[in-house]
Amino acid sequence: MADVTDVPFRSIVAQCGRPDVFYTEFVSAHGLASSGRERLLLDLALTDRDHPIVAQFFGTVPEHLHAAGKLARELGFDGVDINMGCPDRAIMKQGAGAALMREPSRAVELIAALREGAGDLPVAVKTRLGLRSTDEMDAWVGMVLSAKPDVLVVHGRTVSEMSKVPAHWELIGRAAQMAHDAGALCIGNGDIMSRAQGLERASLSGVDGVMVGRGIFHNPWLFAGSPELRTPAERLRLLLAHTDAWVAHWGGIKSFDLMKKFYKVYVSGWDGAAHLRAKLMEAHDAETVRSIVAESGIL
Ligand SMILES: Cc1cc2nc3c(=O)[nH]c(=O)nc-3n(C[C@H](O)[C@H](O)[C@H](O)COP(=O)(O)O)c2cc1C
Repeated sequence: MADVTDVPFRSIVAQCGRPDVFYTEFVSAHGLASSGRERLLLDLALTDRDHPIVAQFFGTVPEHLHAAGKLARELGFDGVDINMGCPDRAIMKQGAGAALMREPSRAVELIAALREGAGDLPVAVKTRLGLRSTDEMDAWVGMVLSAKPDVLVVHGRTVSEMSKVPAHWELIGRAAQMAHDAGALCIGNGDIMSRAQGLERASLSGVDGVMVGRGIFHNPWLFAGSPELRTPAERLRLLLAHTDAWVAHWGGIKSFDLMKKFYKVYVSGWDGAAHLRAKLMEAHDAETVRSIVAESGIL
């Protein structure tokens, strides 16, 4: 997830209970071929603790995807993914993300280019059910599978649906069947809020795994599957560790506001949490955050 699944946050999630596979934020293949490359390489930073990890890219130019795949291999990633589902206006305007559903033959070309660049790394495609209607699914998924990706990752909504309706897990099940018939694995995505729910969805739909997005904001311990409640002290220790790791990686590069959006992950679920969170939202640096947490008397 963009501005979320970076090195600092992955290290926090790994401490809480790691998933079987991590994904990077999506990275512009075009940007990697431009003067913005140095900055984007920070999005592709990885540590020994991250493996197995997939590098996700978006783009529209086969040569860029080829180079991105090659770079992922050189950097030591365990797999690559091309995003063909992002509904963000800025991404679609470039013809990337979900806009590729309008250009299926280019989509196939891009998958082939990524595969060629990535060599023996497995190639995944992350997509949605269609642009406007779930009726588009069979033709679109069939087209993607004709490019022989190793893994199809399906977010069970159309672009028009954004995140406003429940994910159509019955259609994810159908996509899984199509993927299996084509010799690919299928990962289902949409609305998974706990490990138990993910396992249940997987067994009902026949997918080979599930991908979790927003669920991690509600519970950083989601992958551990442990139901026990975490204490405010435990949550605040994690918040401080995350803040320090974030400043070490992004200090002076990204606005501190991007770190603060994580505070709702940690500061919730006890009397006084809302008040503490409001105070933290006014902080502009790690030092102030540390003193606000100290003043709370919780640690
Ligand atoms: C803040 C945020 C950033 C996201 N960034 C990406 C991204 O970089 N690549 C991607 O494939 N999907 C991205 N997504 C979409 C999620 O991967 C996922 O498909 C979507 O949130 C639905 O799954 P969920 O119900 O588990 O959240 C993002 C979602 C959110 C909320």
